[in-house]
Amino acid sequence: MKYISLLGSTGSIGTQTLDIIKEHPTEFSLAAMSVGRNVNLARQIIAEFHPELVCMLEKDDAESLKLEFPKISFTYGPEGLSEVAVYKKSTILVNAVMGSVGLEPTLHAIEAGKTIALANKETLVTAGHIVMEAVRRNQVPLLPVDSEHSAIFQALQGEYEKNIDKLILTASGGSFRDRTRNELENVTVQDALNHPNWSMGAKITIDSATMMNKGLEVIEAHWMFGVPYENIDVVLHKESIIHSMIEFHDSSVMAQLGTPDMRVPIQYALTFPNRLPLKTAQRLNLAKVGQLHFAEMDMERFRCLKFAYEAGMAGGTLPTVLNAANEIAVEAFLKGKITFLQIEDLIENTLTNHQSIMEPSLAEIKAVDVDTRKYVNSLL
Ligand SMILES: NC(=O)c1ccc[n+]([C@@H]2O[C@H](COP(=O)([O-])OP(=O)(O)OC[C@H]3O[C@@H](n4cnc5c(N)ncnc54)[C@H](OP(=O)(O)O)[C@@H]3O)[C@@H](O)[C@H]2O)c1
Repeated sequence: MKYISLLGSTGSIGTQTLDIIKEHPTEFSLAAMSVGRNVNLARQIIAEFHPELVCMLEKDDAESLKLEFPKISFTYGPEGLSEVAVYKKSTILVNAVMGSVGLEPTLHAIEAGKTIALANKETLVTAGHIVMEAVRRNQVPLLPVDSEHSAIFQALQGEYEKNIDKLILTASGGSFRDRTRNELENVTVQDALNHPNWSMGAKITIDSATMMNKGLEVIEAHWMFGVPYENIDVVLHKESIIHSMIEFHDSSVMAQLGTPDMRVPIQYALTFPNRLPLKTAQRLNLAKVGQLHFAEMDMERFRCLKFAYEAGMAGGTLPTVLNAANEIAVEAFLKGKITFLQIEDLIENTLTNHQSIMEPSLAEIKAVDVDTRKYVNSLL
């Protein structure tokens, strides 16, 4: 039995992780979990999965749920996330919380020797050098949940990382892949949330439409697989069947394929190096799919991808700024405060305004994250 700590249990990745736990009750058990503001769903999950420790975002919610579930321990806030991450009984942390709030719990779990199943891409984007140093020092497995990184990880099994020539991340193109820049002027939040292939949380769905999601993934892949940015390519692939590829020195390309279903990479991270059946997964029928399409990325059409490459290559605190500016800009777009194209403008303005600190400490990263959020909010 593997005992799991799950951060972000009420989200898209969180609920799909719970599906996996439910499908394999003799393999997995939910020991500890965190919730943001969705108290109703928290109640249902607690009643069904009986975790021993629950972290709520707000103290009031933790206190009122304690009255309903007196046998369960409750905690709250950012420190509570770390308590869940290092919960004694758990051997694996699934970090599926949204945003850079996921960084510190990951670091604490690494120091506590937990296996990390990482969905929260902001962790490696904001502090890749610190996280990877901690992973190496503590010798803990860092397993990707993101489908692209899982594809690369799967294609790497039985291979040497030193033989990688290039990583090729595939991008579906998001909700607006067939529109020109001019046609993006007046798009609505509802249009942007309508992703053609994947059903995901609101923030990552907007990130897919701006292509920032792929940018964050490029930075994440750089840290996770130790490949220079010059050797990470992105190719547009609208069917989302090939989840990513590795090109080796001898020109051979290894790809991982499947129907778009996040439960597959989530389950692989939980079972690695083993595999278990996933009864409800839709099988890939290539004859039915018929054709797969690929196209080069246009960096002027998808400026957020360009910003991410530039910030990643420049390093220092720029990726932290990129991520924090993006989080605030996307939130503002979702609340109807800015237009879709203003997301890019805000990020560009913020990156240009920032004096980067090289090899930043965790304290410097946290300070830059807070300052960036203040700066972007002052522009709204
Ligand atoms: N969705 C995907 O298919 C996918 C694929 C690859 C990677 N990822 C990554 O996985 C992470 C989660 O994505 P998602 O799509 O599952 O997001 P989501 O559906 O928005 O869920 C986010 C989760 O985090 C919680 N949360 C949000 N802000 C919080 C805060 N300040 N403190 C504590 N908890 C907070 C939410 O709680 P409440 O809902 O209760 O408020 C929810 O449980 C992101 O980093 C994303 O980039 C997602």
